[in-house]
Amino acid sequence: MKKMKKIVSLALTAVLAFGVLTACGSKSSSKDTLVMATNATFPPYESVSNDKIVGIDVDIANAIAKKLGKKLEIKDVSFDSIIAGVQQGKYDFGMAGITVTEDRKKNVDFTDPYAKAVQSVIVKEDSTIQSVDDITKDNKIGVQQGTTGDIYASDDYGEDAVIKYNDGPTAVQALISGKVDCVIIDSEPAKAYVAANQGLKILDSAYADEEYAICVKKGSDLKGDINDALKELKKDGTIDKIIAKYIKE
Ligand code: ARG
Repeated sequence: MKKMKKIVSLALTAVLAFGVLTACGSKSSSKDTLVMATNATFPPYESVSNDKIVGIDVDIANAIAKKLGKKLEIKDVSFDSIIAGVQQGKYDFGMAGITVTEDRKKNVDFTDPYAKAVQSVIVKEDSTIQSVDDITKDNKIGVQQGTTGDIYASDDYGEDAVIKYNDGPTAVQALISGKVDCVIIDSEPAKAYVAANQGLKILDSAYADEEYAICVKKGSDLKGDINDALKELKKDGTIDKIIAKYIKE
């Protein structure tokens, strides 16, 4: 009888332990928290300020998470690992001023766009490059690795002309120190980098037009949920308000 009791209580312990384990399991999955991957070197969309990641993407992501009743956790990773990480399910979504391209669509799904952008060219004020047409394959072009600036410049001028850096600020430092002749990067970060450094300017002619969207794992339901939230946030003026807070026309 005593033995029987012991077996029952052991079994009960096992069931309880299993229950606790599975409960923990579902808690740490993306059930009540959305994990966003970004690369916080890209003001005003995302940058680090006083040890905090701030910017347009962060504010929009927080507004979306709130609408979906979820907490938001942000991981700051290298830009060229975001799409692969989302594809593998390491992150629930990627939001980093990510341009929608046909190639990327093969690997991830994109939500509706939330912002428009252009690729800009930064040069030193006294540069021999004074328009996009002045750039040749003999120039050294600085880019952030894995960005559309990288992809377009490599297509147009060849891999040899393109020097890839981990992030935009490092590419801009290379321009200042004369290692590259220009930097091709998104217009708003370009403005921020030029404002933060002396002797640089942005060429008038833009290099390419693009749209930013959030990427999710292919086939994920999250795409519809985020689109619903985005629709409401566009309609009630929240998105415009967030963008206006960071970009003064
Ligand atoms: N829009 C460009 C792209 O999608 C650059 C984005 C870089 N974003 C960043 N957070 N560093 O390739």
